Amino acid sequence: MNGIKVALVGVGNVASALVQGVEYYKDAKGNNEFVGISHPDFAGFHVKDIQFVAAFDVADTKVGKDLSEAIFAAPNNVMRFSEPPKSGVKVMKGPMLDGVDDMLRALVTVSDAKEADVVKTLKDSGAEMLVNLLPGSAEEATKFYAQAALNAGCAFINGTPIPIASDREWAKKFEEMGLPVVGDDIQDQLGSTVLHRSILQLLVSRGVKVDKSYQLDVGGGAESLDSHYRGRMRKRGVKSEAISQDLPYDAPLVAGSSDYVDFMDNSRDSYFYINGRQFGGAPIKIDIRMEVTDGPNAGPILLDTIRGTKLAMKRGLKGALEAISAYGFKMPPTPTTMYRAERWVEEFLLGKRTL
Ligand SMILES: NC(=O)c1ccc[n+]([C@@H]2O[C@H](COP(=O)([O-])OP(=O)(O)OC[C@H]3O[C@@H](n4cnc5c(N)ncnc54)[C@H](O)[C@@H]3O)[C@@H](O)[C@H]2O)c1
Repeated sequence: MNGIKVALVGVGNVASALVQGVEYYKDAKGNNEFVGISHPDFAGFHVKDIQFVAAFDVADTKVGKDLSEAIFAAPNNVMRFSEPPKSGVKVMKGPMLDGVDDMLRALVTVSDAKEADVVKTLKDSGAEMLVNLLPGSAEEATKFYAQAALNAGCAFINGTPIPIASDREWAKKFEEMGLPVVGDDIQDQLGSTVLHRSILQLLVSRGVKVDKSYQLDVGGGAESLDSHYRGRMRKRGVKSEAISQDLPYDAPLVAGSSDYVDFMDNSRDSYFYINGRQFGGAPIKIDIRMEVTDGPNAGPILLDTIRGTKLAMKRGLKGALEAISAYGFKMPPTPTTMYRAERWVEEFLLGKRTL
């Protein structure tokens, strides 16, 4: 069987979209025919090859529930677009560490269930990789799960902006254990970072000198609350650095999560402002507003990353996977332009690139 056994930590909005997506696209055939995903088949695997075998969370609404139920439990507020069948995977309670801070406690009540032995659970489940979808500011918890993945012999895919794949020390630990690591901070399929980077590339290729630009995000998921209060400067640094990859010169660029608006649920509004000069110094100004739903925007990237990671494991690759990380994450170990990252992935799939 061509299965990919995946464990999840953090059964929030992104995990919900991912689990729903595997059910939703399980019958997808051919490439480029399906709304919302670029690759029903990727790296020799179909979406339906992905199988969830373990999950960890701390919220009392999720711990002890079947994964198919937990993905719809409060405070998750992502859209419901499929009904995954009962999985037989019970969400286990992991250690709290810095997972839920005072602000997040307004949305999450921590379960008083007994903590699971994470490494043993991963080993018993047969998980090949652990996908980290903890809150973006949960640094200690992210490091705990990265170490647990190492101890259990699992690859690690880091959806959060905490440096793991892009941190030399962590990447080395994975390399020494013969395991791949991918990350950091998911770059949405069509989110604010990708749109901003594409516009900057277009302007550069049309000879426009970009003088300054900002991008502001407003959202209503639990992660927007966390990144607005705890992770504000970290997220701003990662996003600003990501868009700067596509400008071949220095210019003031600011991108960040700017506010949490509870009634927006899992939707996200992004505002872009770009100021530059074109022929003869004539001014050009661009103002754009984009509205998307957050969780599903991470789904296709994670589907590709999981399958790319499995291919890497089949090939015996270890350490930080450069191509997949640059393609799907905002803070990869080797940053590059968006289009070069896509080319790297094509080369990686063809076996012309080793990492
Ligand atoms: N499109 C996107 O939504 C997107 C894009 C880029 C990056 N990300 C990153 O993906 C991650 C997940 O985002 P989300 O919107 O699903 O967040 P979320 O807040 O909806 O989910 C986080 C989950 O982690 C759980 N949790 C908290 N502490 C824990 C602990 N110690 N152990 C186990 N579980 C714990 C929470 O209960 C919650 O279920 C974030 O780090 C975010 O920055 C998301």
